[in-house]
Amino acid sequence: MILTAKAKVAGVMGWPVGHSRSPRLHGWWLDQYGIDGAYIPLAVPPDRVIDAIRALPALGLRGANVTVPHKEAALRACDRVDPVAKRIGAVNTLVVAEDGTIEGRNTDAFGFMASLKADQPAWRAEAGPAVVLGAGGASRAVLVALTDAGVPEIRLLNRTAARAEQLAAELGGPIRVMPWEEREAALSGAALLVNTTTQGMGGEPALDLHLERLPVTALVTDIVYIPLHTPLLTAAAARGNPIVDGLGMLLHQARPGFEAWFGQVPEVTPELRRFVLESL
Ligand code: ATR
Repeated sequence: MILTAKAKVAGVMGWPVGHSRSPRLHGWWLDQYGIDGAYIPLAVPPDRVIDAIRALPALGLRGANVTVPHKEAALRACDRVDPVAKRIGAVNTLVVAEDGTIEGRNTDAFGFMASLKADQPAWRAEAGPAVVLGAGGASRAVLVALTDAGVPEIRLLNRTAARAEQLAAELGGPIRVMPWEEREAALSGAALLVNTTTQGMGGEPALDLHLERLPVTALVTDIVYIPLHTPLLTAAAARGNPIVDGLGMLLHQARPGFEAWFGQVPEVTPELRRFVLESL
């Protein structure tokens, strides 16, 4: 696509940034909708991230995504941070407003919930307790999403208990911390199981978890998407549980940014999934 002088430009800031799938994903949508625009990788080292963000309006960029390791630093660089990003403690989407000010948002919680709803429309937040494994950055977004969706009880378990306790204290709501050793007992009566740990990711051992006590009606999801079907999802599907893979969250979290920068609500389609999968 040949850009005009009016082209809308956005990008993704990371360090390194080469692993980011966002240019492929947004590039697909730009093509698909025939938009005069571009989405570029921006390799920004940690000591330049505040400068880089503050420079967005001067460069005429519409905004940017922010990825590892800049998501927390980005909070400090914005003129405004939306309430969800404040609660999650991280910004993944920057939007330059008409007046040149910069708004920080976090679309990971939206992406998580939109992916569940798209892949398993029958799932209801009120259906019962959710079990969330892990207490890292991704867990924060999942906990905010589940709390806001109205899940009645969230059982949070993490290998390092102190991190789970801290998250529960910060976020409040229906989160109940349980010891990591009790993760199998915690599955009793659950309506949702979410893995936010790195276990099961390519190169990592599988999550050490037997699913016997999990009701077969419970939805099982993993935020890991390489491999697409983690050992956890494979085991869950084999016993009849509905599953949602981690790719959906990646695709859906990108939608609000695309809409804000390029003025078009983008769709997550099977073709887009295939296109992004080819690069994994
Ligand atoms: P992210 O920000 O992507 O969520 P992270 O902050 O590195 O990543 O968190 C990784 C999560 O995987 C943590 O909950 C971590 O548990 P600890 O807080 O105890 O480190 C969890 N994790 C990593 N290796 C694990 C293992 N071998 N067994 C259980 N949990 C593990």
